[in-house]
Amino acid sequence: MNQAKLRTVLLGCGAIGEFHVASLQRLKDKYQVVGIADTNLALAKKVAGIFGAAPSDNGMQLLEQARAEVALIALPHLLHLEYGLEAMKLGYHLLLEKPMAVSTMHCQQLIEQAALYKRKMLISHTHQFRPHFRHAARLIKEGTIGKLEMIFDDATAYYGFENRSSWFLDPEISGGGALFNLIPHQIDHLLFFNDSPVVEVMAKLSNLYPDCKIDTDCCAMIRFANGVVANVTSSISNRLIEPGRIECRILGNKGSLLLPAFKPEVIFCHGNQREIIDCSNQIDPIDLEWLELHQAITDNFKFISNGEYGKKVVSILEKIRETTNKR
Ligand SMILES: NC(=O)c1ccc[n+]([C@@H]2O[C@H](COP(=O)([O-])OP(=O)(O)OC[C@H]3O[C@@H](n4cnc5c(N)ncnc54)[C@H](O)[C@@H]3O)[C@@H](O)[C@H]2O)c1
Repeated sequence: MNQAKLRTVLLGCGAIGEFHVASLQRLKDKYQVVGIADTNLALAKKVAGIFGAAPSDNGMQLLEQARAEVALIALPHLLHLEYGLEAMKLGYHLLLEKPMAVSTMHCQQLIEQAALYKRKMLISHTHQFRPHFRHAARLIKEGTIGKLEMIFDDATAYYGFENRSSWFLDPEISGGGALFNLIPHQIDHLLFFNDSPVVEVMAKLSNLYPDCKIDTDCCAMIRFANGVVANVTSSISNRLIEPGRIECRILGNKGSLLLPAFKPEVIFCHGNQREIIDCSNQIDPIDLEWLELHQAITDNFKFISNGEYGKKVVSILEKIRETTNKR
């Protein structure tokens, strides 16, 4: 494999940016960070100091001046489109945070730009890079739980409305609350484990947090062409309900798998057996995203979480919203 060190800029150094910074420090033999942009210039300077990179408070200027090879876009959702299009035009491959964009129309524009300029675009659906998700996908593929029948995906995570960056609470910029922040992870679970077209969505999306404009809670049933039916329940509205969790249970006709999103284990139940498969001490999921992108750029490796995949996720988010509005 080609070991080229790829010159990289980071746009956005907020909550998820920190994880990318830690990852790129570990992967310094593969990536050389040369520029950091954040409208919070003090933050950009602080992060730039770690890498000896150039700080900027203007992402567009940085893209133009640095002329590097890879850009991380970890910005408010509405900005994914304009920064993504410009970066690819200037020659950058992208690691683009989830959700890919705020609409399928924006996703399509990004896909067409990537094709036009022959750029790789990895959408950061981080959960599918977690070691226990990879392990479960292998078990499913090998037929360990038989024919897939259902997926139950449940998430509760209080949104921290008091301290959250304000753009998350503006639906024009974020695309939505639970719908465009938490549910993309849950849809990623479904598509990663069950690669089949969606034929029906029936959902209700509500706003249950006082005086805010974003959706906060969702209950959705999703039917796939191969007969699998999934339910997705998500709640970000109430800190008091119960401890935060996000877990995915996959049921087949020979057994089931339960995956907590943040504990690296798979609980495999079959017959009267319950096995816990420990997947700890494996590669960090964000490192794996960067490694897959590197391999795609240098060796033409094909990753799953590409533009078409990101668009499929957003199209299901749109269907959830549409079916709610039709009620
Ligand atoms: N993959 C995951 O598990 C995961 C987890 C959290 C967030 N995310 C995604 O990462 C992205 C960023 O989310 P976050 O939680 O880090 O948000 P955040 O608000 O913490 O960080 C965004 C940063 O972008 C900066 N910024 C805003 N506009 C800018 C502009 N025009 N130019 C340069 N900088 C600008 C802000 O100052 C801020 O530091 C979103 O797409 C979000 O959904 C993904």
